[in-house]
Amino acid sequence: MKRTISIIGMAILIFVALAGCKSNKQGEDALTDFQLTYGIGPISQQMDLRPIDRAYAKTGEKLYNEKCLSCHELDTEKNGPPLRDITFRRKPEFIMNMMLNPDQMIRRHPEMRKLYAQYKASMAVPELKQEDARAILEFLRREALAAPGTSKKESKRDPKDKSEQNVIEGD
Ligand code: HEC
Repeated sequence: MKRTISIIGMAILIFVALAGCKSNKQGEDALTDFQLTYGIGPISQQMDLRPIDRAYAKTGEKLYNEKCLSCHELDTEKNGPPLRDITFRRKPEFIMNMMLNPDQMIRRHPEMRKLYAQYKASMAVPELKQEDARAILEFLRREALAAPGTSKKESKRDPKDKSEQNVIEGD
């Protein structure tokens, strides 16, 4: 009898231990520190940003209108969040990875999972070349400064972020 009880006890212990392992594994999908800050995708190194290139931003504007505007306005909610101040909220590498690898970003990045839960839609972008994504980023950098005050987050901007964005204001 004692033996049976201890076997049952062991079985319960093993079960609990295994269940614990499993849930650990699920929560783990270990992202590196780099991926947490800069996103998951083809941009795996920090980018070296120059002051805004206006011609490049114009190319990006056209691409943005074609490929992003259906879901993202700059200042108001649509299918996805407004993007006016995105370059102040996220690293440029993160924004690039979101454009180039949205599936994995939504599935694996904790912040994007939260957004997905909020918007209940997944971002889908037709195949985008890296240079096209880069042009769109340039457009977003320009727009972040184009209409100061239109963004609710404006007053919260940290000047440090501004220099990180590496933008020279007014040309
Ligand atoms: C089909 C609709 C759709 C299209 C097209 C789309 N997005 Fe999104 N985007 C979303 C949604 C919805 C989210 C929120 C995350 C989620 O649920 O997928 C999002 C999230 C984002 C985020 C993260 C925002 C944040 O606050 O961190 C960025 C950056 C972004 N999109 C940029 C773009 C860019 C740039 C384009 C164009 C290349 C684009 N998106 C095209 C729907 C879209």
